[in-house]
Amino acid sequence: MMEEQEMLDLFWEIHSGNPREGPGEFQSTKRAFDMLKDLPSSPKILDIGCGPGMQTIDLGRLADGMIIAVDNHPQFLNDLKREAQQNGLADRIIPHLGDMCDLHFEAGTFDAIWSEGSIYIIGFEKGFQQWRLLLKDKGYLVASELTWLKAEAPGEVREYFAKEYPGMQDMEGNLRIIQSAGYRNIDHFVLPESAWWCYYSPVEEKLSRLRRKYAGHPEALAVLDDHQREIDIFRRYSEYYGFVFYIAQLG
Ligand SMILES: C[S@@+](CC[C@H](N)C(=O)[O-])C[C@H]1O[C@@H](n2cnc3c(N)ncnc32)[C@H](O)[C@@H]1O
Repeated sequence: MMEEQEMLDLFWEIHSGNPREGPGEFQSTKRAFDMLKDLPSSPKILDIGCGPGMQTIDLGRLADGMIIAVDNHPQFLNDLKREAQQNGLADRIIPHLGDMCDLHFEAGTFDAIWSEGSIYIIGFEKGFQQWRLLLKDKGYLVASELTWLKAEAPGEVREYFAKEYPGMQDMEGNLRIIQSAGYRNIDHFVLPESAWWCYYSPVEEKLSRLRRKYAGHPEALAVLDDHQREIDIFRRYSEYYGFVFYIAQLG
């Protein structure tokens, strides 16, 4: 029997040292960023659920302002700090340990809030509702979110997400949520499959290595199987769901 701590260690063995912790890539971050036409020349940006911070570094290259990057896992913030130093961005990227459900910034602080693949943790609707207080007038909230792309998905993928993400909406549903929370929908677009493989390819390589390491440990192998299943579901059914970038503005 594996102890709870050993299971946790295995989780972090899978999820440490990866370039990303969710689907995304520079081209998509840039495409969304280029839509923020009312940003000041040195914007103040809050990146929520930044993980190891690939999109934080990308934002640091795209925007000539300050970025506060929040995560509740200290190791990711250390990774980001190192990357920011190596990229000459340490003076403009501030890693911040915090809980996205309980943020303590002053109201009206940020020109933009950015959240790639993380808003589901607080909940898409709650995130748009709660975080708007932190935005300045005409501030932006940009978030990518797992979304149904087709109404009629096959049973296997429906059943998978009924368990893994029962609250998943379609695009129209999410656009309605954004509007009801008091924002204007500027635009939205589906991330290309390449953005998924930026996340999945390194994880999948690691899974096969760990499978050899944990041969003979059925509980560990079951954890690896769960991760592999998520990737296999994407390989088979990616036309039915995807990550969508939603770009919204106050006022
Ligand atoms: C799916 S990952 C996305 C990371 C990153 N944005 C990316 O695309 O690579 C979600 C991130 O949210 C962080 N997280 C989970 N719960 C959190 C919370 N309550 N407050 C802040 N961050 C949290 C995790 O540590 C993880 O880094």
